[in-house]
Amino acid sequence: MPGIVLIGAQWGDEGKGKATDLIGTKVDYVARFNGGNNAGHSVVVGNESYALHLLPSGIINPHLTPVIGNGVVVDPEVLFEEIDGLEARGIDCSHLKVSEAAHIIAPYHRTLDKVTERFLGKHKIGTTGRGIGPAYADKINRVGIRVHDLFNAKHLHDKVEASLHQKNQMLVKLYNRRPIDVDQTTDELLKLGERLKPYVANTGLILNKALDEGKTVLFEGAQATMLDVDHGTYPFVTSSNPTAGGACTGTGVGPTKITRVIGVSKAYVTRVGEGPFPTELFDESGEWLRQQGHEFGVTTGRPRRCGWFDAVVNRYASQVNGLTDIVLTKLDVLTGLKEIPICVAYDVDGERHDDMPTDQAAFAAAKPIYETMPGWDEDISNCHTFEELPATCQDYVKRLEELSNCRISAIGTGPQRDHIISVHSLID
Ligand code: GDP
Ligand code: IMO
Ligand code: MG
Repeated sequence: MPGIVLIGAQWGDEGKGKATDLIGTKVDYVARFNGGNNAGHSVVVGNESYALHLLPSGIINPHLTPVIGNGVVVDPEVLFEEIDGLEARGIDCSHLKVSEAAHIIAPYHRTLDKVTERFLGKHKIGTTGRGIGPAYADKINRVGIRVHDLFNAKHLHDKVEASLHQKNQMLVKLYNRRPIDVDQTTDELLKLGERLKPYVANTGLILNKALDEGKTVLFEGAQATMLDVDHGTYPFVTSSNPTAGGACTGTGVGPTKITRVIGVSKAYVTRVGEGPFPTELFDESGEWLRQQGHEFGVTTGRPRRCGWFDAVVNRYASQVNGLTDIVLTKLDVLTGLKEIPICVAYDVDGERHDDMPTDQAAFAAAKPIYETMPGWDEDISNCHTFEELPATCQDYVKRLEELSNCRISAIGTGPQRDHIISVHSLID
């Protein structure tokens, strides 16, 4: 009954798409459990490159069943665009299962995301503008629209009316915008529901049955530990739980079914949007990492902020998620550096912190304490065993492992499927 959770250990874009694809060849189901189309997961297969936003990255593997769990917020228009785009490229999506309990991102959530960010001004979060926060806010406020609501016209009309009642007051009186029409919104959602219907299923039951039958389920996280609404750098976070616990609440599978928790980490760190980032580089090294690593967002195209590996973040990710394994990605990007700094702890107002400060003001004031390792010049993209890596590169990986409190089980040496060094099996 292997239930494998795969999550981002940093601030996102660690290479979860590639890692999912890697394991995906050996699993029966891949289920997304959090977030929505704020995610951008890349999978590169030969000359083909895919950018998945709402669909699980595993959909590229034809033998497995892709699932969108109840914890995901689903924008149906985006879902259909993504399905059409993949099917035009020969990827069959007809076996996709979408939870009937997942919440819907309606057009008004996208509007609210944008106006709220504008209203926050210098306090903005730097969201992806996809309506994620407002859709989750409605879920928590108990005025959300769920997938199964789309199949009952009267019921849906009542729910849209209840949801828009307060929002229209806000849009008109606070944001100086036109009110949103209840009837028109209901009609649009009903049409989207018709197309969604064939995919809708009791995904909690399907996944539990699969696990009971000994099938393997991979729970593919979006976003990352430091963007978690509970455990991340609040308020500069997303509105869901991308940490391992979210896999259970976001799919309806109990924690006793989870056998493995894999954290994906880059060999350095990037962040998109606003918020504190202790190892961020503002000099030419940051620009060098951005260019070498092609660090531009898959979803919004924004340049990613870049910095050195932060072991405090990784230790914290090991703790919060109960990591059993780390997939270390983009090690190849560091090739050519004479020396590589690693942040081992923080200095907060003269005091050393080996662990993540819980007070966000302390985290915002944290200065990295670095130790420096020698770099390497050799191209590592053709290395297929750990021993083939240059000695200084091996030492760098071993030091990251030691500092992260978790073993490194696979190492990414390039974007392609076969650019990977397997140290320990990720699936048994
Ligand atoms: P995700 O959101 O965690 O799935 O990550 P993204 O897809 O947003 O960003 C990761 C980027 O790094 C993608 O362009 C991947 O193709 C690429 N990538 C993944 N692993 C490696 C690696 O080991 N080396 C290099 N050079 N690129 C990688
Ligand atoms: P993947 O799955 C990196 C960031 C946004 C913003 C904050 C809140 O590709 O790793 P939101 O739109 O979610 O309300 O924005 O979270 N963010 C991501 N950063 N990778 C992602 O996804 C992200 N999804 C959201 O930039 O700072
Ligand atoms: Mg991404």
